[in-house]
Amino acid sequence: MKVSETIIGQVHGKEVVAYTLTNPNGISLTAMTYGATITELLMPDKNGKTENVILAMDSLDDYVTHRPYYGATIGRVAGRITKGAFDLDGTAHQVVVNEGGNQLHGGPTGLDTLVWDAEVQASADEASIHFTTIDEDGANGYPGTLSVTVSYTLTSDSEWKITYRATTDQATLFNPTNHVYFNLSGDINKPILQHDLQLNSAAFAELGDENLPSGALLPAEGTPFDFRSGGKLSVAAEGSHPQTRKVAGFDHPFLLQHDEGQPDAILSDTESGRSVKMFTDQDCVVIFMHNGAVDKYTIAGSPVIQYAGITLETQALPDAVNQEGFGDITLHPDEVYSAETIYKFEVQN
Ligand code: GAL
Repeated sequence: MKVSETIIGQVHGKEVVAYTLTNPNGISLTAMTYGATITELLMPDKNGKTENVILAMDSLDDYVTHRPYYGATIGRVAGRITKGAFDLDGTAHQVVVNEGGNQLHGGPTGLDTLVWDAEVQASADEASIHFTTIDEDGANGYPGTLSVTVSYTLTSDSEWKITYRATTDQATLFNPTNHVYFNLSGDINKPILQHDLQLNSAAFAELGDENLPSGALLPAEGTPFDFRSGGKLSVAAEGSHPQTRKVAGFDHPFLLQHDEGQPDAILSDTESGRSVKMFTDQDCVVIFMHNGAVDKYTIAGSPVIQYAGITLETQALPDAVNQEGFGDITLHPDEVYSAETIYKFEVQN
């Protein structure tokens, strides 16, 4: 395994470092300390052509100015919290809201906006970047000083393994994710609608007003949300289902069933021969398809098209703290949070 590092700039008066891990199969992963963000995933296609298969901004400044969440570590709480309000062990809390009256992706200075510390470690079989940060008591309105470690490991089997570990000194909420967008064609000007998805999920969370979960978990059977036998993502863009129409695609939490040893999801692109298998210990994956075009910034000189990439955001269900039966995302001082997600990259010739 090869490892290299470069200083790419400064944010909040602190140097930002980018690390590149390269495996013997020609896969190389670059991630930076700003937001513990993955900024490039190079992999060959079926003809041996190596391209970047994730969405990334052109510069560090663009990440800071536009906060696109591309490839970033999201937290403390991924997704939306209704009105930024919740009850924690009997005490009412109000966190800082940043999307209308709700909180999105951890608030205005979420984990994706911090400059993390990092250390690298490499052996013959794998290389890791261990990102660490301390999120101060009161940051974005959350109680407790939170110590977080997020490790990215690239293996010689072409797995990108993300592990999360966190502790706190007061009860708080923690439900992180990674917001990487895949476009396996290697061309972000080509929509992901012809990608195939297979997903081991029989239910999804309905969206109500303001893209908040309504609280209902609906069966996928007979809807465009059923990918148990696989299908093209175009169903989300073209169908007449009110839930896909509501957001012009998917922006939905899917409940995962988890079959031992089986991937929870497989995303593939026949044309390039590339695929990514996802394995996670989390209850849900939020799938978002970059449902709108973006013209407030450009990438390589072009605005970003609608459906430029697809996220597979593994996490506990969003707004869990306010929705009955959505799980418990409280972290107490005597607990250690831990979670793991693996994306395994493959090429079919
Ligand atoms: C997703 C979220 C979307 C959108 C996106 C960031 O996780 O569900 O609604 O906010 O992040 O652009």
